[in-house]
Amino acid sequence: MATATTLAPGASAPPGFARDARRCHGDSRSECAVVHGDNLDAMRRLARAGFAGRFRCAYFDPPFNSGRRFVEYDDALSPAAWLSAVRERLACARDLLAADGAIFVEIDDTEVGALQVAMDELFGREQRVSTVTVVRSAATGHKAQNRGPVNVTDFLLVYARDRARWRPNRLVRERATYDRAYRTWLDDPGAPCARWRFRPLGERVREALGRAPTRAETERFAVDNAGHVVRFAQPRFEAVSRAAQALIERSRREPARVLRLRRPGRRDLLLRAGNRVLFLADKVVQIDGRPRLVEPLTNVWDDVPFQGIAREGGARFVRNKKPEALLARILSLATDPGDWVLDAYLGSGTTAAVAHKMGRRWIGVERGDHLDAMCLPRLRRVVDGEDPTGASRTFSWQGGGGFHVWT
Ligand SMILES: C[S@@+](CC[C@H](N)C(=O)[O-])C[C@H]1O[C@@H](n2cnc3c(N)ncnc32)[C@H](O)[C@@H]1O
Repeated sequence: MATATTLAPGASAPPGFARDARRCHGDSRSECAVVHGDNLDAMRRLARAGFAGRFRCAYFDPPFNSGRRFVEYDDALSPAAWLSAVRERLACARDLLAADGAIFVEIDDTEVGALQVAMDELFGREQRVSTVTVVRSAATGHKAQNRGPVNVTDFLLVYARDRARWRPNRLVRERATYDRAYRTWLDDPGAPCARWRFRPLGERVREALGRAPTRAETERFAVDNAGHVVRFAQPRFEAVSRAAQALIERSRREPARVLRLRRPGRRDLLLRAGNRVLFLADKVVQIDGRPRLVEPLTNVWDDVPFQGIAREGGARFVRNKKPEALLARILSLATDPGDWVLDAYLGSGTTAAVAHKMGRRWIGVERGDHLDAMCLPRLRRVVDGEDPTGASRTFSWQGGGGFHVWT
């Protein structure tokens, strides 16, 4: 557990803000801050104070206009009033984004249409990166009684400030099922490829176990020995270089040999009988010390648990709190350590808590009274190393740093 140092009483806020020393916490050298106030005014002041063009990632989780009145905030505006308020704020957010930054706005189907039209206009349709479907519940409990489709999703509308300059990190997720096209074994992948000989994967597993393997055993063996396991796939002839096309044609004429084309900066092209030789090893990564089969992240996120997060961060923010795992994914995708993250609808502080645990610099804005009741206590526990929940284990979080509160 890290011991928090007391913030220097003289530490100052940027121009246009006052520092509330009583509510600041931890290391006074920290650049992270919570702004208590309306986010439109706060973002305008941030822009004037030199934060324009600074944020690599903004995550906004505005009220969805659900028609409900929550204890913490009112979520029942006319569609026009809701849109006008969100539009103004997104325009400010765009100016705060770095040239290589991106914004993720979470929304459900009540206002997703209006929001997408507004974001196309504000950011430019060509800056639209993705519309991610986030599965947040299942058709169980009282929802199972519904007639018609049961609504179980949120959406993340993702826009870059400048798509040409946005460089997200490559993320993968664990595959639920084995790709059975990988059913061929290569005894000696270290030998020159002209000498490679292939045989069925099942034969090799039977040899290793001394009996007929189950399907699960075969798949486990394949993943554990992924450097030996391959599939064959037809290349897209018209999409490859001239050199590659020539080699494909030669490979069709000499089907028994494996041919290799070295490609600077890219994986070698390996061909047998005109087909590409693809290794399972390229789809396996070590997670918790074990090789696991992974696939690239898609725009359907159905693997982030929304259930069981009530205790995360020790903040009870019924219905509205988002999982730390969701923010961890967004920040892993869109930021690197030290980057600046903005959340203008901070709520219970999820974005700030996760950004802190991941070594990002952050600013969060919240106007509600629950800031003092819920969000700041949560962030103090993060700084003091007293929050073992959420993303703490993933990032081996022990505590440290600090944050300011500006008004
Ligand atoms: C859906 S909640 C955000 C939840 C948050 N993502 C979390 O995980 O805890 C929306 C939050 O935005 C705040 N909010 C709404 N309008 C605001 C405004 N104009 N200025 C600042 N905060 C605002 C509300 O008080 C509420 O806490």
